[in-house]
Amino acid sequence: VAVADIIDNSIDAKARHVVVRLIARTDGKVDLVIWDDGCGMSSGRLKEAMRFGSSMEIESDMSRLGKFGLGLKLASLSQARELRVVSRSDRELSGRAWLETGIARGFICTVYEQRECLQLLRQVVPDRPLQRAGTVVWWSHLYRVAQRSGDAQHIAQRLLKRLKDHLALAFHRFLAKGKRKIDIEIEIFDQAQRSRGLPAPLTPLDPFGYPVSGVEGFPTKLVPPDVYKNRMALVAHIWPPNSSAPEYKLPGGVNGKQGFYFYRNDRLIQGGGWNGRREAEPHLGLARIAIDLDPSVDVDVGLDVKKVTIELPDEYIQAIEHAESPEGVSFKQYLSLAQAAYRKRQLTEAELPLIPSDGLPADLTAFLHKELRIKRTTKHRDLKFRWAPLSKSTFFAMDRDAGVLTLNRVYRRALLNGLPGSSADVPVVKCLLFLALRDALASQRLGPNLKEQVDQVNRILVRAVRHERIVG
Ligand SMILES: Nc1ncnc2c1ncn2[C@@H]1O[C@H](COP(=O)(O)OP(=O)(O)OP(=O)(O)O)[C@@H](O)[C@H]1O
Ligand SMILES: [Mg+2]
Repeated sequence: VAVADIIDNSIDAKARHVVVRLIARTDGKVDLVIWDDGCGMSSGRLKEAMRFGSSMEIESDMSRLGKFGLGLKLASLSQARELRVVSRSDRELSGRAWLETGIARGFICTVYEQRECLQLLRQVVPDRPLQRAGTVVWWSHLYRVAQRSGDAQHIAQRLLKRLKDHLALAFHRFLAKGKRKIDIEIEIFDQAQRSRGLPAPLTPLDPFGYPVSGVEGFPTKLVPPDVYKNRMALVAHIWPPNSSAPEYKLPGGVNGKQGFYFYRNDRLIQGGGWNGRREAEPHLGLARIAIDLDPSVDVDVGLDVKKVTIELPDEYIQAIEHAESPEGVSFKQYLSLAQAAYRKRQLTEAELPLIPSDGLPADLTAFLHKELRIKRTTKHRDLKFRWAPLSKSTFFAMDRDAGVLTLNRVYRRALLNGLPGSSADVPVVKCLLFLALRDALASQRLGPNLKEQVDQVNRILVRAVRHERIVG
């Protein structure tokens, strides 16, 4: 989160290329450097930038990611005991730092001369010069990283992975093709060898990056009522079920990834969650809504300084829940469609419902399919009726794995009542039996209730069949 805050500044500075460098230091510790090729800062601007709550840019430019004039300092000092910044704009090279000694002596900001700036750059980015303009932010003495000495490479590797996940998601819109495209690379720099490992260019991790929508008609815009129309833009998505795509899984578990995705100027601020309106639950696992907040509502929506959470006031949530697509799909309907898509998920072969296919007159089978809305494309398994001798105490036997419903041959004559037998005989009995067992035939496992239901049907029919009068 803190690194993303620094990259926000690079993006505001119109950088095209950002490098996040983990430095495996000779003393076994890990430092972090963020290099960019943005517009850089003059010494005056850098002075202002290093102040807490600098007011220079708290102007009306709403397209900036920066807002509070604090990110550079707060994000840095929340992670590192010392912050150094070296920046070039035009010919000017300037550097400043918040060092422990300076902070202790009453918040005195360290100022570097040109020569010292060059020296600093040589230490951490000898291979990545600041060309015409650019900025290097250097964090040292990281607090939150286990700084066991001797293990720097290992720590750096782990950090690299976490950074990659988070940044690929937070900046996915910038990493994708487009007008504001930027490249972000993460790499490990071995200070002793003065060499860098292979840089890992970030590929966007788009939480809406599915190949085909889970439900036809989606994604769709949802338009909130009244004044909220201009404050946020909603697009409701339904993921296809059973995805194992990294874009679906996302770092941090799937269940928490359903719900609202808030963007501010294309930067993802909150990824997933229902903001207290409902619990994350598997049935809503396919529902994700992209919400682009207009920066004019920052105050309303309680954007925090770190820009990681949003405290959405009730009226905003209500506006979201009253949003409707241009075709008239309500928010509620959208949620039920997403739930329905989830329920249809991954019906394994054994889970598919059994539908009569064999043992009835052909036109009756066709009619039954039509009634049950079984199309050729509807997933189901064939149910076959068979006759075989069974114990007298049972009327039928159900083998769901094999998809066979066996009728007791002992009772066949009674049921035929004088008519000749055939492979499609006693259609009424077979249809009624199918209807009586429909739930059991459609479910994968028989719980105690369903099992009792099946046994009951069996007992009753055995009793009934004894009353069939046998003719001849
Ligand atoms: N990489 C950079 N390149 C050019 N200028 C920068 C860079 N980083 C910071 N600055 C300058 O320093 C100022 C202060 O940055 P800081 O992150 O502290 O605040 P902010 O971005 O304005 O607001 P926020 O607190 O929301 O991040 C910025 O407004 C910008 O002018
Ligand atoms: Mg900032």
